Amino acid sequence: MNEAGMNEEEHTQSDVEIVPAIFKDIEGIATILRESFPGKAKYYKIRSWEHESKKILRSDKGWITFIAVHQGEIVGVVAARHLKTLNPTVRIEWIAVAKSFRQRGIGKNLFDHLTKWITTSFFNQQVRITLRARTDVQSFYRKLGLRCYGRGWMKKRIGGQSDEPANPKPSRKVK
Ligand SMILES: CC(C)(COP(=O)(O)OP(=O)(O)OC[C@H]1O[C@@H](n2cnc3c(N)ncnc32)[C@H](O)[C@@H]1OP(=O)(O)O)[C@@H](O)C(=O)NCCC(=O)NCCS
Repeated sequence: MNEAGMNEEEHTQSDVEIVPAIFKDIEGIATILRESFPGKAKYYKIRSWEHESKKILRSDKGWITFIAVHQGEIVGVVAARHLKTLNPTVRIEWIAVAKSFRQRGIGKNLFDHLTKWITTSFFNQQVRITLRARTDVQSFYRKLGLRCYGRGWMKKRIGGQSDEPANPKPSRKVK
């Protein structure tokens, strides 16, 4: 079918590309976050969505951010941070998809892309992905293989040989 003839509803995730976010994407990311977390800047202690979008591009501070792009327009974002814990941990700080593009697999696609990137970057070491999820979104994360471990926190282990650490130790933050 001619793409120009499609209306928005007919687009599938094959029209969407997942790429690393760069400086020029700040406005587009801010738009997605503002739309996805309306009126929540104060709650999340965020100066402005533009400021937050700039912050999540700081790879020198451990940030890993990917965007979903549809015909040049940013329609989704996932931003995570590599924490300096004893065992490698990546904490997802933001994941959001533009309202009109939800329920088409883009959120899952962003998560899968991040997961693949982590597996490659950590040379198949076991890495723990964590995040804090609102109760209304927990089933989305459950579908991605995460499980709850208390007070809204969820986790998933990726890479390595097994799903659980060979020598389980509580992961401590090292400053
Ligand atoms: C949560 C969010 C990122 C999901 O993105 P999405 O692109 O719509 O999700 P997908 O289409 O990839 O969904 C993957 C699966 O999860 C399910 N799912 C998606 N959103 C869900 C939700 N809010 N609750 C329960 N299940 C959900 C889908 O039905 C799909 O299931 P299936 O594989 O059985 O078909 C998106 O709804 C969003 O941006 N919400 C606002 C921001 C937000 O709340 N972020 C999370 C903060 S904790």
